[in-house]
Amino acid sequence: MALSANVSIIPNPSECQIKPGYFKLTSQTVIVADEPLRPIAELWCKTLNTAMGFDLKILPAADQQKGIMNLQIQPDMKELGKEGYLLQVAPEQVRLQACDQAGIFYGLITIKQLLAPEIFSRGRASHIDWTIQCLEIQDRPRFNWRGMHLDVCRHFMPIEFVKKYIDLIALHKMNIFHWHLTDDQGWRIEIKKYPKLTEIGGWRKETLIGPMRKQPREFDATPHGGFYTQEEIRDVVEYARRRFVTIVPEIEMPGHTQAAIAAYPELGTTGLPTETLTYWGGCEQILNAEESTVRFMQDVLEGVLDLFPGPYIHIGADEVNKQPWKDSPQVQARMKELALDNEEQLQSWFVRQMDTFLTERGRRLIGWDEILEGGLAPGATVMSWRGMEGGLAAAKSGHDVVMAPCLYTYFDYYQADPDIEPLAIGGFTPLEKVYSFDPIPEGLSPDQARHILGAQGQVWTEYISTPDKVEYMALPRMSALAEVVWSRQKKKDFSEFQSRLLTHMKRLKYWGVNFRQPE
Ligand code: ACM
Repeated sequence: MALSANVSIIPNPSECQIKPGYFKLTSQTVIVADEPLRPIAELWCKTLNTAMGFDLKILPAADQQKGIMNLQIQPDMKELGKEGYLLQVAPEQVRLQACDQAGIFYGLITIKQLLAPEIFSRGRASHIDWTIQCLEIQDRPRFNWRGMHLDVCRHFMPIEFVKKYIDLIALHKMNIFHWHLTDDQGWRIEIKKYPKLTEIGGWRKETLIGPMRKQPREFDATPHGGFYTQEEIRDVVEYARRRFVTIVPEIEMPGHTQAAIAAYPELGTTGLPTETLTYWGGCEQILNAEESTVRFMQDVLEGVLDLFPGPYIHIGADEVNKQPWKDSPQVQARMKELALDNEEQLQSWFVRQMDTFLTERGRRLIGWDEILEGGLAPGATVMSWRGMEGGLAAAKSGHDVVMAPCLYTYFDYYQADPDIEPLAIGGFTPLEKVYSFDPIPEGLSPDQARHILGAQGQVWTEYISTPDKVEYMALPRMSALAEVVWSRQKKKDFSEFQSRLLTHMKRLKYWGVNFRQPE
């Protein structure tokens, strides 16, 4: 048996040197962890004890006699960055060092992946020896932004699943959860000042059946909806924080807002009553440009800032159908008043109102790449989805960029032959394509390339109505993307990744994740 046979870490670490022998975890093993590492160690132990059937002891450094599993912050290990770690496993002890808590968290995820995959079982796996291969790993991520997005508007996802999704993000050493909370088909976040957003906008009377463009449209005659209370959101934010995942909430504007307009028709361009949208595509109604509407959306953001402590707030701004602005005498008058020449400039003006608002409150605006049209707001970060070009242009003009190009990172696209796969929105993004992605496009100087913060995977849920199906579409493509954003580009090798993935899929299976088995 090759020495490395049981080392299958995903994402692949920067450096890994296999050594002879094993360390064995038993009920006698002591983890040595001082504050502030204790809660991190406790959380880790909790995820092990179901499968192991015993608890590991956690003691402060001063109390321990023989250091068995030592977790240590080493402030001078700056070369590892905040998220890197050094792991040394010898037969007598495990030593995990990092200059920050995040590095210790990621080192513990690596240790868990060095145990037999049964460690992910939801029941006791008493026949397993919990051995860890002796080795030395030095590891740090390639990018700071390693994200997964989830659309909970097209189909509402229960809070318990949102937490599992965050656990999956953390398992892959990813650190951003982009929570798409509002859209034409549903508003999912409670805003105290505007209760109708969820009372009315949180529901639609029915949902389209079958392909998006099929005519005539058919519907399921079943109401769909749901929303997260502020209390639930605070709980999720804290859950994510403990797993070193930052949530980026997305509140769409000025398009993808039909649910909000259904709740408050005065936000729209006609003022007429409307309904939360029941089919896909669309975006036929958008916000007007009145001062009161800008203030309304800023009030919403105020509520969002109160719930989400992370630096980035996503304001969407994609796919805005400008026709309602062209058709509205009030909007046209408003454009004159603001001395704007066209609707692109009006969209840019709208985004700038939000950019100023967020910047004044110490946060940063991020939006889809359409925010480049009509002029980019000064503080904006661009999420490049239609391709790499938007990101390239933004990076060249000194703006930060997150790469999310649909051809590589849209996990709602088919991952195999559409004839045998469940109905999806379209596209074709197989595992190898995801794996081949490099978030740094050609043509950037090193200074410009530094503006590429990283990349993320998208899970739009028009054709993904249940948590099981989210898992099916997201995995294992999320595993491939994790390697894109964490591992060194020159170390990437798809067939070698596939062999590690075999073990990784066992982990997912024991955990009860409904991933798609690649051919
Ligand atoms: C998008 O897919 N409209 C960002």
